[in-house]
Amino acid sequence: MRVILDCDPGHDDAIAIILAASKISPLEIVGITTVSGNVSVEKNTLNALKICDVVGLTDVPVAQGMPRPMYREVKSAEAIHGETGLDGPDLPENPHTKQIDQHAVDFIIEQLTHTTEPITLVPTGPLTNIGMALVKEPAIKKNIKEIVLMGGGTYGNWTPAAEFNIYVDPEAAKTVFNSGVPIKMFGLNVTHTVLATDETVNDLKQIDNPVAAFVSELLAFFIQSYKDHFDFPGGAVHDACTVAHLIDPSIFTFEHVHVDVETKGDLTYGMTIIDRLGVGENEPNVHFASGLDHEKFWSLFRNAIASYS
Ligand code: BDR
Ligand code: CA
Repeated sequence: MRVILDCDPGHDDAIAIILAASKISPLEIVGITTVSGNVSVEKNTLNALKICDVVGLTDVPVAQGMPRPMYREVKSAEAIHGETGLDGPDLPENPHTKQIDQHAVDFIIEQLTHTTEPITLVPTGPLTNIGMALVKEPAIKKNIKEIVLMGGGTYGNWTPAAEFNIYVDPEAAKTVFNSGVPIKMFGLNVTHTVLATDETVNDLKQIDNPVAAFVSELLAFFIQSYKDHFDFPGGAVHDACTVAHLIDPSIFTFEHVHVDVETKGDLTYGMTIIDRLGVGENEPNVHFASGLDHEKFWSLFRNAIASYS
């Protein structure tokens, strides 16, 4: 399955990339595109290049994308991911992997225009690049197999109503959710149950390879951040859910429902409106993740990281 990972790495984005690039993954990574989100797009790109070095993805194109949301001011999440966006591990400042000289939006359009096989888009940051690509070249829709995204949910983590990725660029999110392209959505209602804990870190320390060491350092920082910021017992590896699902579709369960995005409410903009009871007039447009087999998830996570040995 051909995928484009559109991300703002980000500890949990990094883990998504690591799962996708692992030896247990059937995914063919067509490219990694970056967007403004957890930190600036430049820092997110640098982080993506560093992650590529760690996992040996040195010939996968990395394209930098939108430096800001469609209409709104930049918002970022240093409070969770640190000043670099990937605080914790100590990585060389100058990665060997280099970014390509093409804007992410144009890269996405070009790949979707010329592919002979539909491509799955996996956005794990704000939806600015995907929204822009759909607006700039609507014909790409026919070659998008599916959009498998992390965002939204039945409650918020940035405001009481809104999850970070959707809150940052609600207009882009609305464009994506109303595009008619098949969507799978992993929101906070499931991703907050996928918590890496101190036990996860200790277990990773038993695996003898550099990727396991990298992930354990990432998680040590991230878990502390979730304890400090949200008083959670561990760090929610939100973005990794998307890739775990693509590797093993039996992990998560879904409800086929209608989802739209609030862009106007003073208190509610960035909220995903999920019609679980079908009380609205609109046809279902999203497969909404509502449950998972935790044991399967964590065994996939461990096997993926161990596969780098
Ligand atoms: C999302 O926000 C970011 O901080 C994470 O990387 C994840 O994509 C969770 O709300
Ligand atoms: Ca992210």
